[in-house]
Amino acid sequence: MSNKRVLTGYRPTGRLTLGHWFGNLLNMRALQDEYEAYYFVADWHALTSDWQDTRGIREYTEQMVLDWVAAGIDPGTSTIYRQSDVPEVAELTMYLSMVTPMSWLERVPSYKEQREQISEKDLGNVGFFLYPLMQAADIAIVRGDVVPVGEDQAPHLELTREVVRRFNTQYGNLLVEPQAIIPNEGARVPGLDGRKMSKSYGNAIYLSESEDETTTKVMSMVTDPARKLKTDPGNPSICPLQQIHKLIGDAAEVAEWDRCCRVAQCGCVAHKRAMAEDLNAYLSDFRARRKELASEPGYAWEVLAEGAASVRPAVDALMTDVRRAMHVDSGV
Ligand code: TRP
Repeated sequence: MSNKRVLTGYRPTGRLTLGHWFGNLLNMRALQDEYEAYYFVADWHALTSDWQDTRGIREYTEQMVLDWVAAGIDPGTSTIYRQSDVPEVAELTMYLSMVTPMSWLERVPSYKEQREQISEKDLGNVGFFLYPLMQAADIAIVRGDVVPVGEDQAPHLELTREVVRRFNTQYGNLLVEPQAIIPNEGARVPGLDGRKMSKSYGNAIYLSESEDETTTKVMSMVTDPARKLKTDPGNPSICPLQQIHKLIGDAAEVAEWDRCCRVAQCGCVAHKRAMAEDLNAYLSDFRARRKELASEPGYAWEVLAEGAASVRPAVDALMTDVRRAMHVDSGV
C-alpha cells in the first residue's frame, strides 16, 4: 500500500444508483486497498445549490454512509467523514479565496452552465460561486494526492491545482497538487430510457430499492427502438438493457442474448425478465448487508463520528502549517 492519499466526496442530494455503483463505488472500494483513503459526505456542497430546501441533507447523508459501507468501503480501512464535521474546511476556503482571482471562479464551466441551465433553483448566491474553491479546500485539507471524480469534475481539479500553485508561490510549498483519476467510459451506465442514468432524469435504478421495484423498472426499459416485433432482428449494441446486462451478467449468457436478438430468435420481454433476475442476484449481497446495517440504530452516525476523529490529525497538521505561513497564528 502506498502512503499517498486518495480523497473524494459526494453531495448528499439523493439515493445512490447503479450508475454510482459502476462509476464511483467500485473504484472507491479498489482504491482503499492502494492508498490511505478519505471519503466524505459533502453536506456543505449540498447547501450551496439546495439552500432553499435543506430538509433532505441529514437523511441522504445517513443513506450514503449505509450505501458506501454495504458496498465494501470499509470504515476500518477508509476514513469516512462528513464535511461539516471539519469546520476548518470553511477556514481554509476563506484563506484560499485570498489568492484566487474572481475571474478563475467565473470561468469554471460547471458554474457557467448551471447558472444558465438551472432555473428552478436560485444559484445567484455567493456560496454556489465558491463551490469549486470549497472543493479545493476539501482536497488540500487532507493533502490529497489523487482524486477519483467524474469527467464533469475535471475543471474543478484543474482549478484546485492552479489555486494550490498560487498559494504555494505566495506562502511556501505547503499544499499538494492533486491528480484527478477519471473512471473509464466503459463504466457508464445507461438509464431506463437509454440516456445517462441520473436521478434528475427519473430513469435510475437505486441500489437500495426492493427487488420488485428493480424488476418493474427493468420491464419498462427501452431496448433497440427499431425492433418493433419479436420477428424483427435487433441490434444489441445500441440496447440499454443489454449494456447493463453486460456489466452484471455472466459473459456466456449475455453473449447468447446478443446472438439470439440479432437473428430474432428471442424477444425483449424474455430478455428483460432474465436481466432483472440477474441484476437482483448481482445486488443481493449488497442489499442484505445494507439491510443489516440499517437495522442497527445510529450506525451511520457512529461511522461518521469515528471518521471525524480519524481525519482530525491530518487537518490539524495542515492548518497549523497554513496559519503559520500566513502569519495568523501567534508565531510561537
Ligand atoms: N463536486 C463533487 C461532485 O459534485 C463533490 C465534491 C465536493 C468533491 N468536494 C470534493 C469531489 C472534493 C472530490 C473532491 O461530485
